Amino acid sequence: MHTYHVNGVRLACEVQGDGRPILYVHGFPLSGRMWHPILPLMSDAGKLIVPDLRGFGASEATADAEMADYADDLAALLAALGEKRPAVVVGLSMGGYIAFEFHRRHRGSVAALVLADTRAEGDTAESAKARLESAEKVLMEGSRIIGDAMVEKLFAPAAAARTKEEWRTIMAEASPIGVAAALRAMSRRTDFRPLLADIRVPTLIVVGAADSITPVDGSRRMHEAIPGSRLEIIPDAGHMTPVEQPQAFARAVREFIGAL
Ligand code: MLT
Repeated sequence: MHTYHVNGVRLACEVQGDGRPILYVHGFPLSGRMWHPILPLMSDAGKLIVPDLRGFGASEATADAEMADYADDLAALLAALGEKRPAVVVGLSMGGYIAFEFHRRHRGSVAALVLADTRAEGDTAESAKARLESAEKVLMEGSRIIGDAMVEKLFAPAAAARTKEEWRTIMAEASPIGVAAALRAMSRRTDFRPLLADIRVPTLIVVGAADSITPVDGSRRMHEAIPGSRLEIIPDAGHMTPVEQPQAFARAVREFIGAL
């Protein structure tokens, strides 16, 4: 794990291997650690770039952020790594929202997209309000309340209790400032549905068959809207497909990258 000062913030990032850059963008309220189960399976697929987003893992938190900031952080990180080649951007859930923003703002830096367990639509007024309330609560009571609220929804019903407990703890340890900033940023994110038809890079959509946070139907709609996209539905996985079914997730991504 190295530290990079980019875009006014200190970001932690793991970098492994050589070749085509593959940028892994984690979900909320997680960290680059969520990609660990698949990294050994991807080690010969390219240069694996696995940051902790601002406010998560070992990266610095800022009291406020927009989705654009997370995307610009990643562009600055690629530049700091001396990376001039366009990257395969793999984003899970909030990481997918950031991947959309990255594609909009840094189109020349995107070779392909992998949109995992995510959605294109923005928040409804009701969900935005709930996020803002959660942000206030997290700042007062800590991130444990988010971990407790999310852990059962993250995984398919059959997931091991030990795995759920491990992730509940990771979420509870997230920085309340970083979590609150991301909640606010997500509450006002762009609805990317009108922009999907304009995605011209190869796109793979992956979703766990039992994902209850971003259900399969939303992935099917993205698949229909993004020209030439592929859709992979991973059996026996909820919202955390790379953690729950690393072999199947890695196989889908490897096949996709191999065909680029
Ligand atoms: C995530 O996994 O990143 C979150 O569930 C996304 C969200 O809350 O919309």
